[in-house]
Amino acid sequence: MRTGFTFMKAFYLWFVISSAFCFSCSEEKVDSKVNPYTFRQPANFPQAVYTFENNPVSQKGFELGRALFYDPILSADSSIACANCHQQAVAFADPVHRFSRGVMDRSGTRNAPAIQNMAFQRVFFWDGGVKHLDFVPINAITSDLEMAEKVADVVEKLQRSPSYVNKFNEAYHEQPGSQKMLYALSQFMNLMVSANSRYDHYVRKEGELLTSAELKGSQLFTAKCSSCHATDLFTDGSFRNNGLDPSFEKDNGRERITELAEDRGKFKVPSLRNVELTSPYMHDGRFKTLQQVLDHYAAGVNNSETLDPSLKKDEVLGIPLTEEEKANIILFLKTLTDRDFIRDKRFSIPNE
Ligand code: HEC
Ligand code: HEC
Repeated sequence: MRTGFTFMKAFYLWFVISSAFCFSCSEEKVDSKVNPYTFRQPANFPQAVYTFENNPVSQKGFELGRALFYDPILSADSSIACANCHQQAVAFADPVHRFSRGVMDRSGTRNAPAIQNMAFQRVFFWDGGVKHLDFVPINAITSDLEMAEKVADVVEKLQRSPSYVNKFNEAYHEQPGSQKMLYALSQFMNLMVSANSRYDHYVRKEGELLTSAELKGSQLFTAKCSSCHATDLFTDGSFRNNGLDPSFEKDNGRERITELAEDRGKFKVPSLRNVELTSPYMHDGRFKTLQQVLDHYAAGVNNSETLDPSLKKDEVLGIPLTEEEKANIILFLKTLTDRDFIRDKRFSIPNE
């Protein structure tokens, strides 16, 4: 009796300890038995903010979102898919166009940003014009410069497609409809978590080491860049003017949304994950290389009313940097490249 009791107690203790242990480490472990269609929070990231309670990820919902993402059926003349402007090989940014290209080769006004770690982001677009991931595709579909289509017409096309009727039925037991279409696209984008770079393995102490030049770059980055490119998402989600221009007639950024003069020329601080791959840089894709970006911060910052105070400290414009410091920062930025993410088969073009 007594032995049995102790055994049970020991078993219970083992169970409690091991499950507690697994809670804290499960995000980091690459476990082939873990369902690849559930959202997992990387240990070094801030908490995800997407409303998963309304739209939990399922394999069928995710696969539907993936099919939609790669399908030009979403555009007016069936010529452009989300994936035309958001390509996996470059973390779902656009490697070719400074300004994105939509239907009939119409030129947009901004550079297509990477799509990664969307579940952690509170505002979308360079000016924060969209506040929930579920609404992002509406803008892309209806924008005359992107897909130039009506949501109702997309839904009609989907309802006429036996393959989509089947996919919606499997995922939601419903006919194709706009809400579930948006939910499915969000499911697809929510699983696009990039957290497997050398940097991540280093900070999570998973056996990766950085070189001394990369470590120097990391320290410089923390001192000079992380006030805006903060946390392991490398953005604080705020809107700032980083001195690209002395005035902003062409694109006034955040002011377009808030209509406040104090927001003129402010743009969302972008994440720098996979930044090695996401050239061209800035909201208008004006820089082709990271060297040009660093040269801008060191010697190209323009003054204006709304320039961020951290870029005009002690009346000095910009961030003083030597050539060696720039080179080390660039080496550090390259440790944020996540090859697993750009090769992940879950996110690639579906075969059918
Ligand atoms: C014609 C090119 C083009 C197409 C097609 C396109 N996008 Fe985009 N996407 C952009 C551009 C440009 C932006 C930035 C817009 C802005 O800031 O004003 C953007 C922004 C986004 C963002 C916000 C990223 C962030 O960090 O703020 C997401 C998410 C997104 N697109 C998803 C999609 C989805 C899903 C589709 C298909 C339904 C799609 N896009 C179709 C060019 C495109
Ligand atoms: C005052 C806040 C602030 C500081 C400090 C800052 N940045 Fe930025 N960074 C921004 C903003 C805002 C943008 C986007 C500006 C735009 O497109 O209009 C940006 C864009 C970038 C981009 C382009 C990313 C892309 O996807 O287009 C890179 C690279 C970058 N910053 C690197 C750095 C580095 C390296 C440092 C330190 C030397 C630094 N930043 C310091 C606010 C800041």
